[in-house]
Amino acid sequence: MFFVFEGIDGSGKTTQADRLEDMLVRRFGSRNVVRTREPGGWDGGDAARKFILDGGLSSLWGEFFFFMLDRCEHVERVIRPALSAGKIVLSDRYTPSTLAYQVFSNPAIDENAALYASRLADVIGLPVPDVIFFLDIDAGAASSRLASRGETDSFDGRGHGYFERVKAGYEKIMASSGDKWVKIDASRDPELVFGDIADEASRLMALRD
Ligand code: TYD
Repeated sequence: MFFVFEGIDGSGKTTQADRLEDMLVRRFGSRNVVRTREPGGWDGGDAARKFILDGGLSSLWGEFFFFMLDRCEHVERVIRPALSAGKIVLSDRYTPSTLAYQVFSNPAIDENAALYASRLADVIGLPVPDVIFFLDIDAGAASSRLASRGETDSFDGRGHGYFERVKAGYEKIMASSGDKWVKIDASRDPELVFGDIADEASRLMALRD
């Protein structure tokens, strides 16, 4: 079973992934649950994470291929072995992040280029998530959360307009590949948000058994 969390910065993904991890570890044991993240969720990936989040690249296509490279290593070393061993994998971000942040955030993106980017993960055979939880929050509310946490990397500094375009990008991706997505209203109290996630995860785990 492969769970993915997606959303703009400040949407609360990490908090919710922590809670789902706790719930699954209590039910299935820590040996059967693999919690990971992108970028950099593989042995040696910290340097890749630091490089990209410190603003190491200046073109969106450069970033696109870098995040894809990071993901190929992550899949090969962490995600695929865990899934093959029958474990539950929870990833904080995956391919939809690259499509939303590096492709659909670009208002000038060419239609063919967007299509190429959207198909690449399937063409190279990356595992498909069983469910993608999209934590839906408006860019203004997310920015206020980030500001109150005092967090900054070069992505956080890209400003409100960028995050609005990323959010619109997610909406486009969901509209064209909606069946795996579960959209959660993330503007609510975290307990309520988690209630929806826990219900959906339990439903899917029951179907698997
Ligand atoms: P993350 O650690 O999830 O940050 P946050 O918890 O603030 O959401 O991700 C770091 C940044 O990397 C985030 O701004 C989104 C960006 N990112 C991309 O632009 N493309 C990608 O493919 C991935 C995986 C992340």
